[in-house]
Amino acid sequence: MDTNTSKLNIAVIGGDGRVHAIIRALKKSPRCGKIYALPGNGGIMDDAECVSIAATDLDGIVEFCTRNPVDFAAVIPDDPLALGLTDLLRDKGIPCFGPSAKAAVIESSKAFSKELMKKYGIPTAKYETFSDIDAALECVRNHTMPVVIKADGLALGKGVIIATNVADAEEAVRSMMVDEKFGKSGKTVVIEEYLVGAEVSVLAFTDGKTVVPMPSSMDHKRALDGNLGPNTGGMGAVSPNPFYTEEVHKQTMERIILPTVDAMNKEGRPFKGCLYLGLMRTADGPKVIEYNCRFGDPETQAVLPLLKSDLVEIMLAVENGTLDTCPVEFSDEACCCLVLASGGYPENYEKGKLIIFEDVPDDVEVFHAGTLRTELGYITSGGRVLDVTAVRDSLEDAVGAAYAAAEHIGFDKMYYRKDIGQTALRQTMSMIAALLSGSEF
Ligand code: AMP
Ligand code: GLY
Repeated sequence: MDTNTSKLNIAVIGGDGRVHAIIRALKKSPRCGKIYALPGNGGIMDDAECVSIAATDLDGIVEFCTRNPVDFAAVIPDDPLALGLTDLLRDKGIPCFGPSAKAAVIESSKAFSKELMKKYGIPTAKYETFSDIDAALECVRNHTMPVVIKADGLALGKGVIIATNVADAEEAVRSMMVDEKFGKSGKTVVIEEYLVGAEVSVLAFTDGKTVVPMPSSMDHKRALDGNLGPNTGGMGAVSPNPFYTEEVHKQTMERIILPTVDAMNKEGRPFKGCLYLGLMRTADGPKVIEYNCRFGDPETQAVLPLLKSDLVEIMLAVENGTLDTCPVEFSDEACCCLVLASGGYPENYEKGKLIIFEDVPDDVEVFHAGTLRTELGYITSGGRVLDVTAVRDSLEDAVGAAYAAAEHIGFDKMYYRKDIGQTALRQTMSMIAALLSGSEF
């Protein structure tokens, strides 16, 4: 363990609800000095000094961190990681939490991550990669349905189309490769087998040698109840995820997480930071849907409130390669994070709506995802606005507390899903019923 006890000034790069949750966790540490958030948001202003530099303005960030007393930087979003911000900061002698650009490619190129899994035998959906439109169209015409079509590069989690018939699949290929619906990220597409099962997100700290998984979680990606409507950045999350049983965890560690960290080392791309695994629990065991090179949003808001250990020490240990001696403990309670969004999100929505908070209970946390602070109060500035988060002994109570607290918050055209956590609660009930009747689940 790092025996140094001096306080560190930390620059946290990003400005969403996940960043707010990370800053709140950092602030619990006795090692935490001043926090700068670049750019932060309205709610983060209450917890950190926000500096109006975009997370993708690499030169601006490096200049700020070298000119100010910044001891450590935590780079949270995918874009600056893919662009190599941690490399630039480390070159200037500023230690960071977050992978190098060489390692961040595990998220920024689906073609790379699929190739990695194939080479090292890590279970994932069968796939082919195409840069030629005719070959891609030919592939979907002969594919079993549904078929999954993915843009190769970063597309804010939206570059995935699941087509149930050939016409829709052809249309999806054309929209990515010809119309550039997801920009240049769709010049290359990955066409893959549709996996059936329950989705699980697992975040893990790793310094490239030691891997410490955090409690599992479940995102709710679709905009509407019942998993209907368009894909979003995530409308809520719960932790732990009951589909991630001890057995599935064991398989995931042995077949997926440890082999992935090893594979990245063997490829000369050692991964340090938070590795995100999007998994499908299939009948053949867990398979990787996607890797991210960073904390998930909104999974982080449902997982970090359960952290009992010191996040500053953990981030330092990840950077220094001493994670093996750093305590990382989580509470065995449950957490629910409910996203309050602007009407119209993920498509068109209005901004600048005044947010009313009326006696929000003290025993829930409200992370700000897209707000500005004005003289009148907080106003909305994004599609996902607030993350209402509750930790309780049971998931049922955590879900109930988050929904009860949401009643105390309002803004024009606010909407949220009414069923966050319900799939997890149903699964918990059926597992209890199976245990009582002595059968397997
Ligand atoms: P991704 O951006 O790769 O996480 O994909 C977004 C969402 O699309 C995932 O959370 C899944 O719900 C779905 N998805 C992606 N790949 C597959 C697959 N091979 N089979 C089934 N669903 C998938
Ligand atoms: N919740 C999915 C992601 O962070 O990409």
